[in-house]
Amino acid sequence: MPPRHDRPVALITGAGRRVGAVTARTLHAAGYDLALHYRRSADEARALADELERQRGGSTLLLQAELADLPALPAMIEQLLTHYGRLDALVNNASAFFPTPLGAATPQQWNELFASNAQAPFFLSQAAIPALRAARGGIVNMVDIYAERPLAEHPLYCMAKAALAAMTRSLALELGPDIRVNGVAPGAVMWPSDGKPYDDQQAMLSRTPLQRAGTAADVAGAVLWLLRDAPFVTGQIIRVDGGRTLSV
Ligand SMILES: NC(=O)c1ccc[n+]([C@@H]2O[C@H](COP(=O)([O-])OP(=O)(O)OC[C@H]3O[C@@H](n4cnc5c(N)ncnc54)[C@H](OP(=O)(O)O)[C@@H]3O)[C@@H](O)[C@H]2O)c1
Repeated sequence: MPPRHDRPVALITGAGRRVGAVTARTLHAAGYDLALHYRRSADEARALADELERQRGGSTLLLQAELADLPALPAMIEQLLTHYGRLDALVNNASAFFPTPLGAATPQQWNELFASNAQAPFFLSQAAIPALRAARGGIVNMVDIYAERPLAEHPLYCMAKAALAAMTRSLALELGPDIRVNGVAPGAVMWPSDGKPYDDQQAMLSRTPLQRAGTAADVAGAVLWLLRDAPFVTGQIIRVDGGRTLSV
C-alpha cells in the first residue's frame, strides 16, 4: 500500500452525472478527496474530475466498472487503496431505474435492477470493510422512499431498494462501533434522463408539505451530514422528500 493519503477519501458510485456528481462536488468541497466510479459516463466523469482537480490537485481518481460484474467490485477497492492507501467513506449511489409491470417482468430485468441497487452495494461494502474499519469510516446507501411505499409498475426496483434498506440496517448492526452505515431516501429530486416522468409532478407537489421538488444538493447535504456530522447515528435511513411521505 502507498503512504496513507493525508485527506479523507470517499468512493462514490455512479458519480459521473446527476445526483452522484452533485454529491461528489459537495464532499469534495467539504475536504474529501474522491474515487469517482462511472460505467458509461466517461466524458462526464472526466470533466468532473478535471473540474475538481483544478480546485485541488491530486484529489480525484477515476474508476470504471460495470457493477453487475462481481469480480470488478473488490478490484475497485484494491485499485483505490493502491492509489490512496485509505478509504473513509463509501457512497452507494449507482442505480438502474425502469418500470417492470407485472406480467411482463423478466429475469434479466430482475438481475439488472438488483445488481446495481442491492448486490453491488453489498459486495462493495464487504470489500471495503477492512479499510473503512481502519479509518473508522462510514457507508451511505442511496435508497428511495419507494422502498417503503411502492411506485406503481416498478415492483422490482422497489424490492431492490427495500433490500438495500435492509442491508443498511444489517450492516449497521454488524459493523459498529468502527463503521457507521446509513441511508438517504430521496423523494423525486431529478426526473429520469429518458424524459419519462418519475411521478406526476403536480400531484407530487400537492402532497409535499415543503411545496417544492427536492434538489440533488438537498440529497448531497444529507449524505455529507451522515458521513461527517452524525457520529452517533447508524442504521438510519433519512427521508429527504420535503415531508411527502407524511401524508397517505
Ligand atoms: N433522481 C431521483 O429523483 C431519485 C429519487 C429517489 C432515489 N434516487 C436514488 O438516488 C441515486 C442517484 O439518483 P440519480 O437519478 O442521479 O441516478 P441515475 O442517474 O438514474 O443513475 C446514476 C448512475 O448509476 C450508474 N449505473 C446504473 N447501473 C449501473 C451498473 N449496472 N453498473 C455501474 N453503474 C451503473 C450509471 O452510471 P453511468 O452513467 O456511468 O453508466 C448512472 O449514471 C440512485 O441510487 C437513485 O435510485 C434518485
